[in-house]
Amino acid sequence: MKAIVLCAGEGTRLRPLTHTSAKHLIPVANRPVIEYTLEALKEAGIRDVGVVVSPNVEEEFRAALGDGSRFGLRVDYVIQERPRGLAHAVQCAREFVDDEPFLVYLGDNLLEQGVRGLVEEFERGGANALLLLAEVDDPTRFGVAELRDGEVVRLIEKPKEPPSNLAIVGVYLFDPHIFEAIERITPSARGELEITDALQTLIEQGYRVKPYLLKGWWKDVGLPEDMLDANRILLESLEPQIRSPIPPDSRVVGRVAVAENVQIERSELRGPLVIGPGAVVRESFVGPFTSLDRDVIVEDSEIEYSIVMAGAAIRGTGRIENSLIGRHVILSRNERPPETYQFVIGDNSRVRLI
Ligand code: G1P
Repeated sequence: MKAIVLCAGEGTRLRPLTHTSAKHLIPVANRPVIEYTLEALKEAGIRDVGVVVSPNVEEEFRAALGDGSRFGLRVDYVIQERPRGLAHAVQCAREFVDDEPFLVYLGDNLLEQGVRGLVEEFERGGANALLLLAEVDDPTRFGVAELRDGEVVRLIEKPKEPPSNLAIVGVYLFDPHIFEAIERITPSARGELEITDALQTLIEQGYRVKPYLLKGWWKDVGLPEDMLDANRILLESLEPQIRSPIPPDSRVVGRVAVAENVQIERSELRGPLVIGPGAVVRESFVGPFTSLDRDVIVEDSEIEYSIVMAGAAIRGTGRIENSLIGRHVILSRNERPPETYQFVIGDNSRVRLI
């Protein structure tokens, strides 16, 4: 079975990071979000993956994932020229999936349980589509399913009055009948071809849509706080591993992974915490729930519950919490008068001063 991973969204709620990078390539626990998806697909026995991207991020995805061999997969790229909805993205991948059943994974979801159970359930037969569903507190933010006798009988996208608390998580298995359904639907109120509407059409045409209930945690990483929470969750099961010398003037407490070529001096590292290769931590307190990616520098600072991306430098800043810091960002203290804040900050940045 092939899979397509939909990564063409604009990631507007994660600006400015998504001005220069796709959200699926933002690292959590020092690995791009999409790598967890690829791993889950491989674990489910899938080998061919089509990544659906918009033209402006194609190169970045190719550079990050290549032909997929690093993950034991064959990765192809499918271009969605304009963001016209999830059903449109699936339609763009029609040639890639051919006439076989296939899996669709919304690329901004992280799932504890992976997708093997779903794939096995679908392969047992009896359904034209299988949907991963989760019980949620606020179903109005999602596509919502109504079930009867173990089948999905109705689906509504972002309903004001949800018929149940069962939200569509964003992993679907389809047979090729879905393409007929996509051809019948028209754009929704938000101007998109909704996969939920295509599924509803499938049901109305007499095809069978079955539910698969989620076990374990699920995180949609659309917002900065979701990224930080996903980082927290993943770091909780981090494999502790120290690959660089920790000098006697420094202390490591708890679940900490330090990569090779890391320089630690007069610092405290408190887990859960991951530090990537080439990083420097000097006269600082780092962690818990923090990821410092490769070549990050932290000096004379404290940082907790944060993601710091590759090549960023934090010097003399005092205490930082709850932060997503992009690649090659420089945060430093102004050492000469006048005592002012000085910024070079991109569009849509968010800064909180004390
Ligand atoms: C999409 C789907 C929705 C699903 C959600 C899961 O919504 O349309 O049915 O519940 O993903 O994250 P969107 O995130 O595009 O608003």
